[in-house]
Amino acid sequence: MVFTRLLLVICCLAWGSASNNTCPPAFLNRCNCGMAYSRYGFPNQMKYTVNCTNSGFTSATMLQSLPSRTEVLIFTGNIIPTLPINLFNKTEFFDDLDTIDLSGNHIRFIQGKTFHRVSAVKTLILNHNDLEITDEKERPRLFSNFDELEHLHLTNAFSEKINSTDYLLSLEDIFYESRLDSLKTLHLEQNEIWSIGNNTRVFCQLPKLEQLLLTDNRLRDFDFRIDCLHSLRYINLERNMITRFSDDAMKRLDKYTEIRSPRKIKIRMRQNNMVCDCRSKHFIEWLNKTNADIEDWRDFKCNDGYPSSNVGKTLKEVHELRCPYDTSGNMRAMDPLSHAGHFHGYSSATIGALSFLLVFTTSLLLAVAYFHKQKLKSIFVPYWDFITRKIGYTGLNHDEAPQEVNV
Ligand SMILES: *[C@@H]1O[C@H](CO)[C@@H](O)[C@H](O)[C@H]1NC(C)=O
Ligand SMILES: *[C@@H]1O[C@H](CO)[C@@H](O)[C@H](O)[C@H]1NC(C)=O
Ligand SMILES: *[C@@H]1O[C@H](CO)[C@@H](O)[C@H](O)[C@H]1NC(C)=O
Ligand SMILES: *[C@@H]1O[C@H](CO)[C@@H](O)[C@H](O)[C@H]1NC(C)=O
Ligand SMILES: *[C@@H]1O[C@H](CO)[C@@H](O)[C@H](O)[C@H]1NC(C)=O
Ligand SMILES: *[C@@H]1O[C@H](CO)[C@@H](O)[C@H](O)[C@H]1NC(C)=O
Repeated sequence: MVFTRLLLVICCLAWGSASNNTCPPAFLNRCNCGMAYSRYGFPNQMKYTVNCTNSGFTSATMLQSLPSRTEVLIFTGNIIPTLPINLFNKTEFFDDLDTIDLSGNHIRFIQGKTFHRVSAVKTLILNHNDLEITDEKERPRLFSNFDELEHLHLTNAFSEKINSTDYLLSLEDIFYESRLDSLKTLHLEQNEIWSIGNNTRVFCQLPKLEQLLLTDNRLRDFDFRIDCLHSLRYINLERNMITRFSDDAMKRLDKYTEIRSPRKIKIRMRQNNMVCDCRSKHFIEWLNKTNADIEDWRDFKCNDGYPSSNVGKTLKEVHELRCPYDTSGNMRAMDPLSHAGHFHGYSSATIGALSFLLVFTTSLLLAVAYFHKQKLKSIFVPYWDFITRKIGYTGLNHDEAPQEVNV
């Protein structure tokens, strides 16, 4: 009796693990298929997960046999330079598939017809790839079958060979043509973006956008439009190269907060390149009075500044903002002391030592010249004659040049 019960338990366990943890044969036993806690979305929820992490695949053909009950597909750390047309089996339905993670696969090119039957997917992750999306590689309808996509992760996703201003233009086309009307979160961290460039409306194609993450780029200003984004509530600009906001950026943010009030937009921008001199005066005053929620701005550190004692201070500790140099009359007018302050760097002891050295060297040279005056004369007199004759000739030559051409 006990024995049969034991047998039953073993049997059930075997069946359980077989039905839950075995992938179809095409996966070559390199992946895990089964219920697993999801890293994405709700943390304490188990989902049917197909996990091919660092499986050494160089093609994605096995995804044709992806079980149709899959809820989370993790396919990362493989080498798939080009994603094929119809990545998943076209005759199957994937109504439960809510997360696709394709990070770190060295993907360079995604064809326009790669993704089908993905209308339930909420999260698409393409981090750490080498995507090229410009010129002949541009496929504006790339994400068009992701009808309910809410979170798009494009952290360090693009090839560094292509200038960010170029692929941002393509990205605007992709957002427009793919109609990502449910997108709430856009991750664009670590993409070497130095300027949004001419397409300041790039994010306007994402009407439901709530969170925009531009951390770890090279932005120098807040140079994109947000007035078209009615649900936006969070922007991350940490670790960029922002020295201060331009007047235009401050105006745009004030206008946005005025319209959205009382809801606030939160901007996180620690570890930028704050410069605390007279040119930041307006910006720091603005930070102190704007209704936009610039998180912890009082603790931003000055990476540079004038007077130089500002360097390393936080914005709340800075009390004096002067101009580093005279760029124009009006800057001097703002701070009449800046000019005089400029020479304070050299101590009088240094200047004294330098003057002494100069006088000493000159007298030494004169003394040497005096003692060898006969010899010097014999060297220099012929040269002097030669030079004066030469100048005479060249002067003549120059005057005659037109005549020579005529001959
Ligand atoms: C196997 O999957 C079934 C549902 O398909 C589930 O009830 C069962 O708990 C799973 N077993 C294991 C060991 O994960
Ligand atoms: C996927 O598999 C890898 C390695 O096999 C493992 O480290 C990782 O935790 C798995 N992920 C999930 C969500 O199960
Ligand atoms: C695609 O799905 C169909 C229908 O379920 C199935 O018959 C076919 O074998 C699948 N193709 C592959 C390559 O697994
Ligand atoms: C991108 O192009 C701009 C000018 O068009 C240039 O200033 C910048 O250095 C380029 N950036 C890279 C990473 O090539
Ligand atoms: C913006 O457009 C102007 C004119 O169309 C062009 O001259 C300029 O190079 C563009 N700037 C960038 C950063 O692409
Ligand atoms: C901010 O403004 C208040 C008064 O409105 C002022 O007392 C305070 O010194 C200002 N702080 C900074 C850092 O400018």
